[in-house]
Amino acid sequence: MTSSTNNDDHRTYAEVVDNRPHHSPSPSPQTNNNNNNSFSHPEQSEYEPLLGRPGSALQSPNSPMYKNLYLGTGFLALTGLLLLPISLIGVVSTHRVLPLVSPHLLLQSFATSILVAAILLLQPTSLSNAQAKKQAAKLHAFLQVLSFLLFTAGVAIIETNKHVNNMPHFHSAHAAFGVITYFILVVQYLFGFTIYVTPQVWGQGGERAKSLYKWHRYVGYLLLILVLVTVSAANWTDYVRKALHVPKFVLPLAAGLIAVGVFPRVQKNKFGYVRVR
Ligand code: HEM
Repeated sequence: MTSSTNNDDHRTYAEVVDNRPHHSPSPSPQTNNNNNNSFSHPEQSEYEPLLGRPGSALQSPNSPMYKNLYLGTGFLALTGLLLLPISLIGVVSTHRVLPLVSPHLLLQSFATSILVAAILLLQPTSLSNAQAKKQAAKLHAFLQVLSFLLFTAGVAIIETNKHVNNMPHFHSAHAAFGVITYFILVVQYLFGFTIYVTPQVWGQGGERAKSLYKWHRYVGYLLLILVLVTVSAANWTDYVRKALHVPKFVLPLAAGLIAVGVFPRVQKNKFGYVRVR
């Protein structure tokens, strides 16, 4: 397995379907007319999710976008993304509301769930269904802006709480991960926004921005891990453990379900990996 630059964003429809390199002059006769997700040719294993049945997480033509949320292992992530806000709404609403803490829990859980939904909707798309991919990219961008606004509001509230009450920063693993994660999120949102909305700022009439998509994906999955670690680490903060008595398994379980639901659906070809035989 080697890395190459001919990822999904650069190839034509036919090149993607056949999994041929960019501008390959001679298509393999075996792979022609083979866009039915049957995966009969070994080269098409590039479309396999990392785990699970090959093709189980590819959006098929005419399939509505909402099904992307639970395709393949997606249903596990969907369970996690519902468990997170529902459980926190449950505990927050049954305890005394602290105006500078309680909203942080709710806002961060909504933001996390929306961020995961944005990933789940886009993951199963490919250039073999260009129209669906375009629509999903638009919704992905919209949901990511929404989750960013919620993350920002949640961080602003908890930082205000620290400031007003003269409390120390970074005194828990959650606090340290939270700050680091938020700063990388800011960079990723700016990066994602410019490559999608203003690609010309990256040069070459917007072409260069396309070659940067795979870095947006790498950082995106790294960030997802950081967000899930931050969410799990909230379990060990004094407020969540001693005041709210959130059952110990809830946050790590939600984060774990999201991870095992999302990562097996990663399409290797979108990172520009092409199998050399
Ligand atoms: C959804 C589950 C979450 C819960 C239940 C939660 C809960 C809490 C609690 C109780 C605190 C105060 C205790 C402390 O500072 O150690 C806190 C602080 C903080 N959280 Fe969260 N949080 C969650 C998610 C997140 C996420 C996803 C982020 C980042 C994107 C984040 C960023 C922060 C920051 C920046 C602080 C303050 C750090 C400091 O200045 O020391 N939290 N969180």
